Amino acid sequence: MLFAPTLLSLALGLLQTAGQGAVATSQVDATEVGLEILAQGGNAIDAAIAVHFALAVTYPYAGNIGGGGFLLYRDAEGEAWFLDFRETAPAAATSDLYLDDDGRPIAEASQVGWKAVGVPGAVPGMWDAHQRWGRLPWSDLLKPAEELARGGYRIGVREASRLKNYGQAMREDVIAREIFFPQGRALQVDDLFQQPKLAETIGLIREQGVSVMQHGDLVDDIVRASEAGGGILQSEDFANYRPALREVWSFAWDGREVLAAPLPSSGGIFLQQVLFTLEGTPFEVWGFDDPRSIQFLGEATSAAFRDRNAWLGDPASLDFDPLDLVDTEYLRSRRRSLGSSTYTPPSRSLPSPPMEHFETTHFSVVDGDGAAVSCTTTLNGAYGAKVMAPGGFVMNNEMDDFAALPGTANQYGLVQSKYNAVVAGRRPLSSMCPVIVVENGKVDAVVGSPGGPTILTSVLQVLLARYSYHMSPEASMAAPRFHRQDLPPQVQYETERLNSAQKEALRSFGQPLRLRKRLGDVNAIFRTKSGWEAIADPRYSGSAGEVQNSVSSETGIPQ
Ligand code: GLY
Repeated sequence: MLFAPTLLSLALGLLQTAGQGAVATSQVDATEVGLEILAQGGNAIDAAIAVHFALAVTYPYAGNIGGGGFLLYRDAEGEAWFLDFRETAPAAATSDLYLDDDGRPIAEASQVGWKAVGVPGAVPGMWDAHQRWGRLPWSDLLKPAEELARGGYRIGVREASRLKNYGQAMREDVIAREIFFPQGRALQVDDLFQQPKLAETIGLIREQGVSVMQHGDLVDDIVRASEAGGGILQSEDFANYRPALREVWSFAWDGREVLAAPLPSSGGIFLQQVLFTLEGTPFEVWGFDDPRSIQFLGEATSAAFRDRNAWLGDPASLDFDPLDLVDTEYLRSRRRSLGSSTYTPPSRSLPSPPMEHFETTHFSVVDGDGAAVSCTTTLNGAYGAKVMAPGGFVMNNEMDDFAALPGTANQYGLVQSKYNAVVAGRRPLSSMCPVIVVENGKVDAVVGSPGGPTILTSVLQVLLARYSYHMSPEASMAAPRFHRQDLPPQVQYETERLNSAQKEALRSFGQPLRLRKRLGDVNAIFRTKSGWEAIADPRYSGSAGEVQNSVSSETGIPQ
């Protein structure tokens, strides 16, 4: 185990240090791995790659080898990049893949089992990031994950309860049953969880690189398992998968630069729309607790979700310029149309589906040279498709992020359009929204979250708390959240977000409400006067810390 950085982080947490680096993740071993890589002189990309593989071992609920994600990188010189390693629809995917004979969607088919699996991009993505920007040898970055898989780690309360609550369907899968339900009982708190098969797989990837996920025994085994389980993956899908380097979605906000995710994420467009809609309104003056702020923000997010669902998808599917959606005249007219004490109902009515749980994970890294990584990675549903690859890792069910039948709801209640229809080779529309905020030419915050569509509103609210309401980093993270996404129409709120008077006011506007236990699991890093402050979401038992980065700048302040 790698304890030194954690101790160091306690000592350095609030000190201004030359070349200080920081890491925030949802899992303590993964954070320690990231800090250790920084302490060895790795850069932010190195630490991110090591964290990504560590999470595949210690956070199997969402951390992954069988999934994909987005990595936003701003290098020490201030150039920014967006690496899309999201899953892709297999070549054999067709628009009726998840429809019954009468043309109705079969939800289960796109959510559970091999048919729900998209071509994973995690290993090609990490490999590509390393080839472009890595500093330490690839092999050094995967070693900690391999050791964690071989030596094992103690199952925590969160993992045990997730397995109990969401992992039951994995009992149907022979490999998953053996790994997560040894002797027929689910892993319990404090069980030593060793994953020799996964250690072997990571060892192979460590030695042979991306080719392990492109062709050869592992790919053949996965394709055979997929065929046996009714899936459509073929060897060519793995050979042909390529991560995409895309232009960062960046925009100005109140004197800052926001670096965010482009399509196939809805993140950048969503944030730009909502932040522009709020500009010039009394939103800040009303204050965080005023029902008018809550209602106006909810109306703005609801309108942005309407656009998201109607217009967005893989950029290759669009027949218009997505910049039209952030046209200032268009958004000014929206601003004028929204009220702070009125409620705009959705254009149609559908039953509200049960809300899915957090199934994605986000981590943030900065290094001693001021480079930053904001990375959100996912299996989509909890434990993805609830099937495991013969290499000992969980496979995604990202195909459910497509609109199985445009106009009907997916597991998050999102009703999406033809632009997000199932098409071979396309990537499904995402809500994952890694963000880096730049102020005075320097990274000021690195933010992201899991939570399906609530990612968008969670990230947004941390930014508003920090920059519009001038809260401290801790208060910005702790501030209770709410979520509104057009359909379902409720303001979904954390208990502490709304007191009785606020609820009464919102109801008097006509706004339906719904209680949610927690929204988001944000892992963020903020610049403060005394150095980087890495914070894991106080709602959960995540982990964050700072460390002296041995390859440092000369300036004595974080860059
Ligand atoms: N799988 C969650 C998302 O991409 O939005």
